[in-house]
Amino acid sequence: MNFATLLAAVAGLGLVVHSADTSAQDLKVLCAADVQWCESMEKAFEEKSGLAIDVTRKSTGEILESVRAQKASPDIDVWWGGTGDTHLQAAAEDLLQPYQSLELQDALPWAQNFSQISGGRASGIYAGALGFAYNSAVVNSRGIRAPSCWKDLTNPDYKGLVQMPNPNSSGTAFTMLATLVQLLGEDEAFQYLAALSRNIDQFTTSGAAPVKAAARGETGIGISFIHDAVTQKLSGAPLVIVAPCEGTGYEIGAVSIIKGTRRLETAQRFVDFALSTEGQKTGASAGQNQVPSNARVALPPAAPDISLIRMVDYDFVTFGSPDQRRRLLDRFDKEVLPSANPVATQ
Ligand code: G6P
Repeated sequence: MNFATLLAAVAGLGLVVHSADTSAQDLKVLCAADVQWCESMEKAFEEKSGLAIDVTRKSTGEILESVRAQKASPDIDVWWGGTGDTHLQAAAEDLLQPYQSLELQDALPWAQNFSQISGGRASGIYAGALGFAYNSAVVNSRGIRAPSCWKDLTNPDYKGLVQMPNPNSSGTAFTMLATLVQLLGEDEAFQYLAALSRNIDQFTTSGAAPVKAAARGETGIGISFIHDAVTQKLSGAPLVIVAPCEGTGYEIGAVSIIKGTRRLETAQRFVDFALSTEGQKTGASAGQNQVPSNARVALPPAAPDISLIRMVDYDFVTFGSPDQRRRLLDRFDKEVLPSANPVATQ
């Protein structure tokens, strides 16, 4: 029987022939945590489960775009890590599959609350506060005053010396937008951002890139999560970490399952692992410094004590709404990017 006849016979039997899956992929995960954590989580879950999974790092907003684009037939199974308000926006757009893991019984109250806000479609896995860090060698060599508040960052002395991520791609930067709106009121927040943009040397795709660049001395000040700055400082960078004097906001990092996944059971196993003590410990062992959501897991030794930081009462319901996201990003594109120095937006 030749190949064409064989195919015809199989079709006659009502069987569907799939081409061999050479990628041996049992689960596709998009990861918005730091790439080192993405890689170590992949290894830990593969060892635990005996499965072969594919984990790719992207920024939070990029993952939202990918999940939206695949809505009709998703190939992504799990979205692990990244800022929770964007998971909530995806939940509100009906892109996520509800799942109540039994591991949630060990979750701290803020993570339980987050899961409720999402309608059981996303689970909190870590928390961390937003801030900035400056390279003391860069700042001292220019003889400029060190910044300690958000408002200091608009000082013309810092022209071309500040990096922040772009909120269209980065969840960190969306957290920054939402934080400033909650601290200052919306119009004042956008005036502030327009003034700040004149000092920005680059709007980065990912949220940790600014403090990584500041750590290398490629910029003076990086706006990122404080725990990302701690990770850089621990590796020897001359960074001074600042919790801004006016107060700041925070993220609840999350995990969620993509609605329409063809590998639901494996996706649920992954979420269970991400919430378990074993899965949560992978953060500290990958050099990360967020607050774990599992009450049984110790805070990484160098993690900032976020209870000591002056914090807004972050409104996840409001800023987890797709309408708010659309509106705030639209204002950012129209009112902030055009006042940036041309190099910054390249
Ligand atoms: C870093 C932080 C995470 C955060 C993530 C957001 O990796 O360590 O806590 O959730 O950035 O990434 P993004 O690139 O979307 O800002």
